[in-house]
Amino acid sequence: MSNLQLALPGLLMEPDEWVWRDDFDEVTDVKRFEHATVMRDEIVRAIAPRAGGVYVDVTFGGGGHTIALLEVEPRARIVAFDRDPVAIEAARERLAPVADRVTLVQAPFSAVREQLDLLGIGRVDGLVADLGVSSPQLDDPERGMSFRREGPIDMRMDRESGETALELIDRLSDDELANVIYEYGDERRSRRIARSIKKALLAHELHTTLDLRRAIVRAVGPVRVGGIDPATRSFQAIRIAVNGELDQLAALLASLPEVVDDGGHAAILSFQSLEDRLVKRAFAVEPWRPTTKKPQVPTDEECAMNSRARSAKLRVARREPGPVASAEGE
Ligand SMILES: C[S@@+](CC[C@H](N)C(=O)[O-])C[C@H]1O[C@@H](n2cnc3c(N)ncnc32)[C@H](O)[C@@H]1O
Repeated sequence: MSNLQLALPGLLMEPDEWVWRDDFDEVTDVKRFEHATVMRDEIVRAIAPRAGGVYVDVTFGGGGHTIALLEVEPRARIVAFDRDPVAIEAARERLAPVADRVTLVQAPFSAVREQLDLLGIGRVDGLVADLGVSSPQLDDPERGMSFRREGPIDMRMDRESGETALELIDRLSDDELANVIYEYGDERRSRRIARSIKKALLAHELHTTLDLRRAIVRAVGPVRVGGIDPATRSFQAIRIAVNGELDQLAALLASLPEVVDDGGHAAILSFQSLEDRLVKRAFAVEPWRPTTKKPQVPTDEECAMNSRARSAKLRVARREPGPVASAEGE
């Protein structure tokens, strides 16, 4: 049997210090599942894979970090996770040259420890997480994550489970929707926006991503504030809620001490301040020792080449020897 296995298992913002990521202009080749990997070299240096080591990439995506780690150390192995079945399927071809050293698992962060147990793997030598969505997920109109492309109001990373963005909008009250938009989008005009979205839904005018953008623009006007589209913050907030992104990150951080072995490193790349704050807090307590006080950021050169990199912050911590401590409740 090939070792390329497919396991199918089942706050507040700091707006001034943060550049909110706008929707992408460039359209990637969705079918080829291409994604420009962010801070590849910094992450390889942080993990420093060694011969015989076993590593985990919890956000496989287009495989950029996994492949870089395997290339730098030809005797390392990786267990790569993604909750998106499309990303896992696209990986098969891409990973062919290194297939005997990768195990692919379609599962969310919250199931990482359990899935490693099923594979008979104890604590690993390092872990990578590159949070958020990939370019092909954002660029595929059928996924409904972008207000620039017409598609269903879906936004799920895993379209085989959970509720769609439209179902979420339908289920939440005006106030609950406004809270989502305010908290996850740092959008001060959240009440107006939520009312307008719910009004469009009641009037049977909410079917596609362009309808959703129209409802947002109706509430706040078409003017770009701070260089971003008026719908950017609301779309991102609804996507975070649909995918439970912060709960997933909290679950990953809580399980990390049981996943990474003594002396191993965890490298986590965030793209918005709520995520970065959770990571910073988790790495501030035992058994973690951050390798730098401030997060690392991409070079100007990388930012110029890849707009998505502009809001990236990389935090790396080393697991110190000692008892397993949980980051839960921090
Ligand atoms: C930014 S992309 C990773 C890109 C990858 N590092 C590369 O260089 O090609 C993030 C990926 O993580 C996955 N993802 C996000 N949240 C997840 C979660 N809670 N559990 C599992 N996968 C998740 C997404 O489906 C997406 O494919």
